Amino acid sequence: MKKKTVRDVDPKGKRVFVRVDFNVPLQDGKIVDDSRIKAALPTLNDLLDRGASLIIASHLGRPKGKVKPELSLAPVARRLEELIGRSVKMLSDCIGPDVEKAAGGLKPGDVVMLENVRFHAEEEKGDEALAKQLAGLADLYVNDAFGAAHRAHASTAVIAQFLPSAAGLLVEKEVQVLTQLLEDPERPFAAALGGVKAKIGVLENLMAQVDTLIIGGGQAYTFLKAKGLEIGQSVFDEGSFELAKGILSKTEGGRPQLLLPVDVVVTTPEGVEFEPTVKRVEGAPIEVAASDAIPADMMGVDIGPETRKLFAEAIGNARCVVWNGPMGIAEIPEFTEGTRAVARAVADSDAYSVIGGGDVVAAVEQLGFAEKFSHVCTGGGASLEFLEGKELPGIAALPDR
Ligand code: 3PG
Repeated sequence: MKKKTVRDVDPKGKRVFVRVDFNVPLQDGKIVDDSRIKAALPTLNDLLDRGASLIIASHLGRPKGKVKPELSLAPVARRLEELIGRSVKMLSDCIGPDVEKAAGGLKPGDVVMLENVRFHAEEEKGDEALAKQLAGLADLYVNDAFGAAHRAHASTAVIAQFLPSAAGLLVEKEVQVLTQLLEDPERPFAAALGGVKAKIGVLENLMAQVDTLIIGGGQAYTFLKAKGLEIGQSVFDEGSFELAKGILSKTEGGRPQLLLPVDVVVTTPEGVEFEPTVKRVEGAPIEVAASDAIPADMMGVDIGPETRKLFAEAIGNARCVVWNGPMGIAEIPEFTEGTRAVARAVADSDAYSVIGGGDVVAAVEQLGFAEKFSHVCTGGGASLEFLEGKELPGIAALPDR
């Protein structure tokens, strides 16, 4: 990476403002998945080992400029304390006299955690005054918040104008992995994309690079319709219909190879409840239909058994695989088989494998396959924007080496 990283700075005796993405899932005040905290540990430990004190900042959820006690970072500070084996002092705000006092008194090895930066509306506005106040707490800025690098917020990007700055080790790793996929992947290179909506920019950008494009999940129905097939009550995304048609015509010659479902699992539209939580209605029918014979009154909810074999074989032949988005409604166990089959195929292959996107990462973790991937991206939106070829403001703001 051409950006300056923590390897290029001497943090000894410095107060380092480290922006991390500790936007972890919480349930009843408990952390459900701490992988984002663990992912920042190499940077935090490295800085501490080299004699820095740390002022850690993050957002949590979307409080929209209001103080929401349920989105306090206090539980995260407690978990971090366990993981780094030293005291992490939780502060009640991210700016103000008390915070300045605490930051001013830091000694090497001390760690404080600021309260959720999004409790201030100025954070998301990328407000310079807030960025300056945050910068005033420290001697050095380190951005290790890859998951928030696509946001041009005060603490993710603007602050870099006011302090010597560098990328953390997680940001460095994520950028290396994703750059390699876009610029020099091992071949054959397969991309498996699922989820409800086609990520238009990602598809367009990956089309130029992949050898095999595998489309499953809800977005596959838009492609099937673009092929002229009946999709019954399946989800259809008008916004990506033209793109789907374009990709079908571009792949007619077989380069890249496009794989769409040849069969799907179907149920009735009443068979799934989406609100307040996604669940299957007991007793609703579950059938398998060929992709060209989806009944008019039913909707596709997962890829079928033949498709699972087809996708698994393509993944088995690849030397490099990137996967984003589940293959079916992964919240419902009966409709998780497609996602499981793809996860298993990746787990069984020795290809270099990268997964990104919160929903597929959660599904793969639940299925127990996460360790089998070469790299699990910590950023959903950020990794997608990177794969689209966009410049991420949090990274662009950092100086070159
Ligand atoms: C994420 O979870 O993708 C990041 O933490 C960014 O969160 P945001 O979408 O609320 O900006």
